[in-house]
Order: sequence, then C-alpha cells, then structure tokens
Amino acid sequence: MTRSLSCCVTWVETTDRMHIIRSIEEMQREANSHRAAGAVIGFVPTMGFLHEGHLDLLRLARRRSDVTVCSIFVNPTQFGEGEDLARYPRDFDRDCRLLEAVGCDIVFAPGVEEMYPEGDTTWVQVEGLTNVLEGAFRPTHFRGVTTVVAKLFHAVRPHLAAFGQKDAQQVAVIRRMTRDLRFGVEIAVAPIRREKDGLAMSSRNTYLDKDERKEALALYRSLQTAQRLFSGGERRPEFIQRVVEEEILRSGAMKLDYTAVVHPDSMQPYEGAIDGPALVAVAARIGSTRLIDNTVLGEE
Ligand code: PAJ
Repeated sequence: MTRSLSCCVTWVETTDRMHIIRSIEEMQREANSHRAAGAVIGFVPTMGFLHEGHLDLLRLARRRSDVTVCSIFVNPTQFGEGEDLARYPRDFDRDCRLLEAVGCDIVFAPGVEEMYPEGDTTWVQVEGLTNVLEGAFRPTHFRGVTTVVAKLFHAVRPHLAAFGQKDAQQVAVIRRMTRDLRFGVEIAVAPIRREKDGLAMSSRNTYLDKDERKEALALYRSLQTAQRLFSGGERRPEFIQRVVEEEILRSGAMKLDYTAVVHPDSMQPYEGAIDGPALVAVAARIGSTRLIDNTVLGEE
C-alpha cells in the first residue's frame, strides 16, 4: 500500500519498504547519503507500465548494488510529433507494487516541470550514432533520451545503470554519452525478455488487438530465420537482411520501417562478410503501433 507522510521539511510518500521521491533535490540528497555510507547505487530508468523485461533490469541492478533506484518518467521530449505520448500507458500504483515485490528501494518519479524547468534550453545530443535506424525514423528521439538520461544520472548519481538489449541502439547511444561526458556510470545490459510465443515484451504491446498481436510475431520469426541462416554458415549481410525483410512483409499486415544488419557499437552497416557480432535490427508498424526487435548474430 502506498501512503503519504508529511513532515516539517519534505513531503515524502512511502510504502512499507520502498521510498517514493518526486524531487531532484531530495533524490540527490538521498543518493549522496548512500554514497557517503559507501553503498553502491544501481539504477533502472523506465517510462513505467512495467513488465517482466523491466523487472529483469531491476533484478540485475539489485544483484550488483546495495541500493536500487527505479525511475518512472514518461519523457515527453523523446516522443516526436504525432507519436503516442498522450496515450502512452500509465499505472503508477501497479508499477510500485511490482517494484516493491522485486525489492526496489527507491522509486524516483518526478513531474515534467521538475525535469524540464520552464524556459530550459539545454540538450544533450550524441552525434552520428543517432542519425541511423531509429534515429532516421524518429529524428528527435535520441536527443530526448540522452537529455533525460543525463538529467536522471545527475539526480540519482548511480554507480551502475541497467538498460535492455530490446533497445539496442539506445544502449549504444547511452554508452557513448556516458563515456563522452565521463559520467563514471557503469552501463549493464540485460537480454530481451519475450512472451512465451516470442513477442518481445513492450509497454506498447497493450496497443495491439488480437489479430495484430498474432501478426506481430512476424518480427520474431524473421529474427529466428536470421539466426538459422547464420548457424547454417550464411555470412552475407545483404542476403540475411533481404530474407528478414521478406519474412516480415509476408505477414501482409506489417508496414516495414527498416531492417538492418549492423555493427552493434557503431550501428554502421556490415560491409562484406560478417566476421564478428552483428546486430539484426527491425522496426515495423502494425495498425497504429510501432514495434522494434533485434537479435545479435555471432554472440558468444
Ligand atoms: P522504457 O521503454 O520504459 O524501457 C525501460 C528499459 O527497459 C530500457 O532500458 C528498455 O530497453 C528496457 N526494456 C524494455 N522492454 C524490454 C524487454 N522486452 N526486455 C528487456 N529489456 C526491456 O527505454 C526507455 O523506457 C526510455 O527511453 C528511457 C531509457 C527510460 C529514457 O526515457
């Protein structure tokens, strides 16, 4: 149960074990006191409406740290015009119950004005990596992600932050930002969590109706085909890409944004034979829902 406590200096919500913080100043104060006590802070940034994929990140962070913080903030700046900001699913109480059950210590849930003070003009932008794949279809998306994650890192002051392989390009962009800005935060990555039938878990799956949900499996099927081809010795990136594309288009209901076979760090296309890990990334729309998925070929 969530309850509210008032005291003379701060207003704090708390559950029996978990602390809910709304202000950056309060979050920083809390982080500083944990750091001063020598505790390792593990952090999982999210936009809420949590599923098992998010909870895997929490479990990973928890294994590697003494204090685990999860942020819930639907970040307006990473949604483009005409995207799903207004209808993005939200259920804060349910999220808190799930987080408490996996042993999260602090939920950081700031409001929009707290993260973006009126009149702010500061952005964090990673160049290059952000022009391709997702960035080519969502030109302001990564600027929003890096800006909010930089602000969240300043608030939470984590030693370690966990991200999901589901958003492979986001991982590469965050790694680059963390390195370039010398954040001193270790970036840990958890594998893609899937439904039993293979659909990658996503808060956006709630948009899918029954038929769309079935058609959406074409993404996973196409990635399995890529893995099968690779296991059978196929090393031509264009060939694998073409087969993946055909597999998705065969569904009829999916509108393809892109399929790509790229280097996982640079997001640049593989030229010549695949001779190291190769990220196969796909993005497609079904009805009004946009889905992404990926797999890595040749991963140890
Ligand atoms: P969100 O989509 O809520 O995802 C939060 C984290 O969960 C991300 O690191 C994402 O990659 C991971 N995740 C989502 N689905 C997953 C799955 N099926 N398996 C494993 N991990 C999964 O990504 C964002 O929010 C935002 O861009 C954010 C980083 C919070 C910045 O606003």
